[in-house]
Amino acid sequence: MTRTDRVLTSAIEAIGNTPLVELARLTKGMDGRILAKMEYLNPGLSKKDRIARQIIEEAEAQVALKPGQTVVELTSGNTGTGLAIVCAVKGYPFVAVMSRGNSMERARMMSALGAEVVLVDQLPGSRPGQVSGGDLELVEMATRKIVLERGAFRADQFQLQGNQRAHYLHTAAEIIQQSGGLFHAFCDFVGTGGSFAGCAAAFKEYNPLIRCFIVEPEGAAVLAGEQATNPNHRIQGGGYSMASLPLLRPEHVDGHLQVSETEAIRTARRLAKQEGIFAGFSSGANVAAALQLLKGECRGSTIVVLLCDSGLKYLSTDLWDSTSSFSE
Ligand SMILES: Cc1ncc(COP(=O)(O)O)c(C=O)c1O
Repeated sequence: MTRTDRVLTSAIEAIGNTPLVELARLTKGMDGRILAKMEYLNPGLSKKDRIARQIIEEAEAQVALKPGQTVVELTSGNTGTGLAIVCAVKGYPFVAVMSRGNSMERARMMSALGAEVVLVDQLPGSRPGQVSGGDLELVEMATRKIVLERGAFRADQFQLQGNQRAHYLHTAAEIIQQSGGLFHAFCDFVGTGGSFAGCAAAFKEYNPLIRCFIVEPEGAAVLAGEQATNPNHRIQGGGYSMASLPLLRPEHVDGHLQVSETEAIRTARRLAKQEGIFAGFSSGANVAAALQLLKGECRGSTIVVLLCDSGLKYLSTDLWDSTSSFSE
């Protein structure tokens, strides 16, 4: 039964079961296909609703989270929005701790959903819209302090297995079912690594020949072993220049791809204009990486990507500003 077949008991049940679409207009004339999972159709407009639900329900089952206890998390906005939805329905106070460098749509949306939003200033020299690993360290310190002060449960997306399990149990399982398992590769722009870890684990279990690629911003490809020369890139939600991510399993990584900010932005704009898909920077990065694969080592293949969040979350940025330096 899918989420559209019956009356649901709450918005939490509306999380997941997103459509998988072929990007046939974008790949016209190319040898191969791209199948894109429309994660921006989740209630909080991103794939992170899935992990919010999984982490909170696992914590409830393990009695790590008690009725009425405050939930806190460091977020670039999407996990926080998912947690705000799950906490609103279940009656937990929620505090989202976010860098001031992330787009303001996110803070407004979380507040509207009842969250207390704590904004942390960026490092001197960092620019709004470009959150670096250093900026995130400041958010991490503020988060730890609030957790201690409030005796809160931390929905720690970088550490808790519920993050990758949400994608292992649901996102990946849906993709395998929707595609009939007929795909050859998966590439994913990494933040916490939870989506990559969960999907790659499930795909390899289903068919070890499915190749899984990590996507990073050009100039911040530290997982590929490079020095970060541009940690303050525009691709929000990942590419934090953290050399080790606890959820990633190296044996599931078949290769590394890099996407420039310009490529991510141009591809997000092409997705909107050619496919009618209004998604964010990282979705543009994922599709740009899949196009690279189709032109290169995965010519003739079918590649799966996630469309991580909605373009609505970036209306205040230059993503949709055709007069910006990124216009075609
Ligand atoms: C818009 C967006 N794209 C990509 C990612 C990266 O996903 P993951 O943390 O599963 O690696 C995130 C994570 O917050 C995100 O918000």
